[in-house]
Amino acid sequence: MAMRDSRNADEEASAAARWDRRYRAAVAPPFGEAPNDYLRMICARQDFTARSALCLADGDGRNGAWLAGQGLAVTAVDVSAVATERALALDARRGVSVERLTADLADWSPGPGRTWEAVFLIYLQGTSALRRRALDVGKAALAPGGWLVVEGFAKAQGPRPDMGPDDPDRLYDLAELRQALPGLQVIEAFAGRVCLDEGIRHRGEAEVVRFAARRME
Ligand SMILES: C[S@@+](CC[C@H](N)C(=O)[O-])C[C@H]1O[C@@H](n2cnc3c(N)ncnc32)[C@H](O)[C@@H]1O
Repeated sequence: MAMRDSRNADEEASAAARWDRRYRAAVAPPFGEAPNDYLRMICARQDFTARSALCLADGDGRNGAWLAGQGLAVTAVDVSAVATERALALDARRGVSVERLTADLADWSPGPGRTWEAVFLIYLQGTSALRRRALDVGKAALAPGGWLVVEGFAKAQGPRPDMGPDDPDRLYDLAELRQALPGLQVIEAFAGRVCLDEGIRHRGEAEVVRFAARRME
């Protein structure tokens, strides 16, 4: 199959099929086994005292497993059954327990009344509609004082062919995040270039957004 045809076929598959295929084809954890740097930076803050976390689109588990190792009670959701199976294996190797669910954020909601003191959304590069839904779910799942933390490729990354999606609809900007999350206290809103060092897929200079906000009431 020509490269363009194979890319189109990949884009037309369901998110679950697409990501299952990518994880199955990966020779090593695509984003590494160390936690995302921004997540670790937020957790190192003196005012970050969360004891529970919801990791949306947690993939093969690096972030959820690390948070659990820090003593947080972690729930993680990802659409890929292959990634979730690998995440459970990582949890077992680390000796931690994470509540892991295979579900599509397009229609998943937590049980009524369930909240977490931190919600992480790290590199969900879905369509604007999916991102918006994930942000709505994340905001609604925050306990009072809870943190919502996002990192993803920014619109400025689009023309760079080496990393992240090239479809602008799958890229973040800060205005969208602020608009989607009214009423939260913004702690940090960064858009710019960083040097990623995350496995084989996120490596080198990239344009990203890093956004952290809290539910204060
Ligand atoms: C770039 S990976 C990042 C994984 C993880 N957050 C990390 O930083 O290692 C994107 C993840 O989003 C998940 N994903 C994509 N679409 C999804 C959806 N509709 N619902 C839930 N997860 C989804 C994929 O399965 C994949 O694991």
